Amino acid sequence: MADDRLIAALDVPTRAAAEQLVTRLGDSVSCYKVGMELFYALGGDIVTWLKGREKKVFLDLKLHDIPNTVANGLCSLLRLRPDILNVHTAGGLRMMTVAREVLHAAADREGISCPKLIGVTVLTSMDAEDWGGLGHTGTIADAVLRRAQLAQRAGLDGVVASPAETEAIRRTCGDDFLIVTPGIRPAGVAHDDQRRVMTPAGAIRAGASQIVVGRAIYAAENPRAAAEEILKEMESV
Ligand code: C5P
Repeated sequence: MADDRLIAALDVPTRAAAEQLVTRLGDSVSCYKVGMELFYALGGDIVTWLKGREKKVFLDLKLHDIPNTVANGLCSLLRLRPDILNVHTAGGLRMMTVAREVLHAAADREGISCPKLIGVTVLTSMDAEDWGGLGHTGTIADAVLRRAQLAQRAGLDGVVASPAETEAIRRTCGDDFLIVTPGIRPAGVAHDDQRRVMTPAGAIRAGASQIVVGRAIYAAENPRAAAEEILKEMESV
């Protein structure tokens, strides 16, 4: 049965493909991630459609801009009633703080519950070489932890991080802090462009609140069986 700890990424290009996948997954998946691919193709309609089917929605647009623009962008997304929104922690403490304050004020004004606001730390596709290439001298792990602490100071509800960094974040930021982990690969599934990966059970064991799974579900021969296998693995932890 469905478990909100599993977020299936709807990384498909069309409404028809999205509807087909959601229908195939049926009640095995209760929470979906809508990212750039689908949102830029269809706009908010897809979020409204999912909400109409009583699904939870993580709208993963990774806002990264000046504080005023990010804060107002988030407020524009509020009308879609997503359950989780995110910004990029690379925007810094001030951006995250303003984003949170303005979003909460807008939700209060409209009398609706505020979506969870989380911060992307460092993309799970990045490895040490990519990181060094950007001119960073420290490790990715240190940067992720530092960014998670900044997000917490800004009042965000949690972060997106790879499962490899989850344990340290959980230890530092406490039990109430959301840690959403992409980069999930069940044993034997190709890593594709992801670099810092872990199995579903490994991520939950490390302290993840929710895991995001894209290709391991939507590219499987039988997506529903793949989702159920992941749910079973998570329950066994
Ligand atoms: O197919 P796969 O399971 O690798 O997809 C992972 C999903 O999580 C993608 O939609 C990707 O955009 C997203 N994501 C990520 N790393 C982050 C934040 C989001 O892979 N740090």
